Amino acid sequence: MTAQMIDGVKISTGLLGDIARDVDAFIALFGRPPGLAVVLVGDDPASSVYVRSKAQKTLDVGMRSFEHRLPATTSESALLSLISELNRMEEVDGILVQLPLPAQIDERRVLMAIDPEKDVDGFHPMNAGLLATGGEALMPCTPLGCMILARSVLGDLTGLEAVVVGRSNIVGKPMAQLLSMANATVTIAHSGTQNIAGTCRRADLLIVAVGHPEMVRGNWIKPGAVVIDVGINRLAAPELGPGKTRLVGDVTFQEAIKVVRAITPVPGGVGPMTITCLLQNTMLAAHRRSA
Ligand code: GUN
Repeated sequence: MTAQMIDGVKISTGLLGDIARDVDAFIALFGRPPGLAVVLVGDDPASSVYVRSKAQKTLDVGMRSFEHRLPATTSESALLSLISELNRMEEVDGILVQLPLPAQIDERRVLMAIDPEKDVDGFHPMNAGLLATGGEALMPCTPLGCMILARSVLGDLTGLEAVVVGRSNIVGKPMAQLLSMANATVTIAHSGTQNIAGTCRRADLLIVAVGHPEMVRGNWIKPGAVVIDVGINRLAAPELGPGKTRLVGDVTFQEAIKVVRAITPVPGGVGPMTITCLLQNTMLAAHRRSA
């Protein structure tokens, strides 16, 4: 069987067109564009690239972008002051604080300071609780993107065996909740799982978010499964030249491609979907705040 490549760039491009139309309609109704504030503390190169990309896509769909870049030495109280200012600003509908934060800042305290109605990452405990109890949450963007990609191949997920590898608050936990809400039978595998290869091999839908390059091997995958690889890991690639690097996922792609029905590439799979879902969440937050 020839494996299908799940093209996150193509799917997200289509959705961005829909969002741009929604933005035009919002401006016609309310006389202002939806606004998204992105806050980066420090100068981590990967985070800096993500933040620039988020700001650019925000502008591309016609929203207003508020970008705040603070030095790595920023105090927790200075960051909390900025967040309360953004909470008060009428023209800001969504607030995202890029993670990870420097060691002197308590991440939980910062996430709890964001107005839950503007929490477009879905990381505030209020939104996490609403998701867990079936309420009207703003939901985390990466799991939302994975659901769109999985459904693009599988349609209805009812009755499927889904295995999520990783149990982070950002991906694994909310991912399992969304899959369960979609009537899949869900297993969460993690570093304490005894037979992780065998557990993964049960999956019709395997979603991997562990942050270990190429951890999932081809023989961990059930033939014909659909694989969503959330990992983005930068490896040294001396074969490409001195100092060169390449991006790989959490799945050994060259092995997996021989076994799967469909798989997301890295890059070009989940990554573009995360930003697209962030803009969808911003649109949703803007409508809720304007209702
Ligand atoms: N760091 C890695 N992924 C994310 C994300 O989805 N949102 C934020 N705010 N920070 C991240």
